[in-house]
Amino acid sequence: MLNFEFYNPTRIIFGTDTIQRIHDFVPSDARVLMLYGGESARKNGTLDEVRTALGQREIQEFGGIEPNPSYETLMKAVELIREQKLDFLLAVGGGSVIDGTKFIAAAVNYAGDEWQILETHGAKITQALPFGSVLTLPATGSEMNSGGVVTRKSTQTKLAFGSSHVFPQFSVLDPNKTYSLPVRQLANGVVDAFIHVMEQYLTYSVNAQVQDRFAESLLQTLIEIAPKVVEESADYDTRANLMWTATMALNGLIGAGVPQDWSTHMIGHELTALHNIDHARTLAIVLPANMQVRRAQKRDKLLQYAERVWHIVDGDEEQRIDAAIARTRAFFEDLGLPTRLADYQLGAKDIDEVIKQLEAHKLTKLGEHQDISLDVSRRILEASL
Ligand code: NZQ
Ligand code: ZN
Repeated sequence: MLNFEFYNPTRIIFGTDTIQRIHDFVPSDARVLMLYGGESARKNGTLDEVRTALGQREIQEFGGIEPNPSYETLMKAVELIREQKLDFLLAVGGGSVIDGTKFIAAAVNYAGDEWQILETHGAKITQALPFGSVLTLPATGSEMNSGGVVTRKSTQTKLAFGSSHVFPQFSVLDPNKTYSLPVRQLANGVVDAFIHVMEQYLTYSVNAQVQDRFAESLLQTLIEIAPKVVEESADYDTRANLMWTATMALNGLIGAGVPQDWSTHMIGHELTALHNIDHARTLAIVLPANMQVRRAQKRDKLLQYAERVWHIVDGDEEQRIDAAIARTRAFFEDLGLPTRLADYQLGAKDIDEVIKQLEAHKLTKLGEHQDISLDVSRRILEASL
């Protein structure tokens, strides 16, 4: 196992009727900015519940944070907070609203050009406003981690940042909030969480037995609940398991002390920035191809994954790896996520542009061995045509 420090200060408040608990964790004299996306949180009553829970506190609102939140929109919230001297942020939404709130929290008192926060991937963050979240979409894990992803629309640049200053102080996870989600977002959530686990698990073995077994349990849970999740039946336990699995998939626990990959995400971000494909959908395209292109480097873990997650024991090693990749692809396809660039009308001619963007963003050495050069990224994209 590799050396590690594990730190996660986010309080999780989980279950039915838990939004009212916010009252105990926001300072009584706080001047609150409630942030949200489009209309979903208003329509399903969540904004009203949050307002009620906050009682007499001063509350202002900032709506309109887009899926794949834009720097341009977030900076408007930064201005509002500076003008109105607000001092506590409350994100109500999915990964985009929570990520956006993390950026805003770090940017309000940032000395210098706020875009640097993203260019330096969070390394220059030394403080942030305190904030909490009410999660409405299980997928990203943003509710219990210290990372975020923001897009500068003007340059189609989607960059990730992280800092221990941007952990939410608390996150409310009420599975009932997922009932208003469309199937597409539920399926995206399953796949995003699945691939978060894969980025931290499917690397090379360092004999981290707990991390491996935890990761495998999360993958197996997702495989087990996925058919029920997309049936859209309002089954509380299925939604509760989805929500907790997605949080556990990216809260630092399974990634502690193990090598991590993240190349699927980095290539996927470019596809979102250039072609506006949903985050999880980009991952469903890239991961199977990535597994195929790097099957030699990932050999032992691929065999372990085949056996322990999919119970594939027949055939020689190459056949078992082939079968594991095929099962993974079929899992995404069955959930309604296509796994080929061609499914989005993209072809060989579109690959150059993705490579150019990876180069512009200095993403030229990716993966657990830092050996995914631009040439290897190109091979991965070619394998996903
Ligand atoms: O904007 P509204 O109207 O709220 O609608 C949203 C949005 O259109 C809707 N939605 C959310 N909760 C709902 C709901 N609709 C009905 N009922 C509800 N309860 O869902 C749509 C998508 O929301 P979004 O927040 O964009 O989705 P997601 O949670 O998948 O977040 C995606 C973003 O997170 C980033 C992605 O790159 C992307 O920008 N990620 C963040 C990570 C992190 N912080 O650790 C890791 C991930 O790998 C990922 O990169
Ligand atoms: Zn993701």
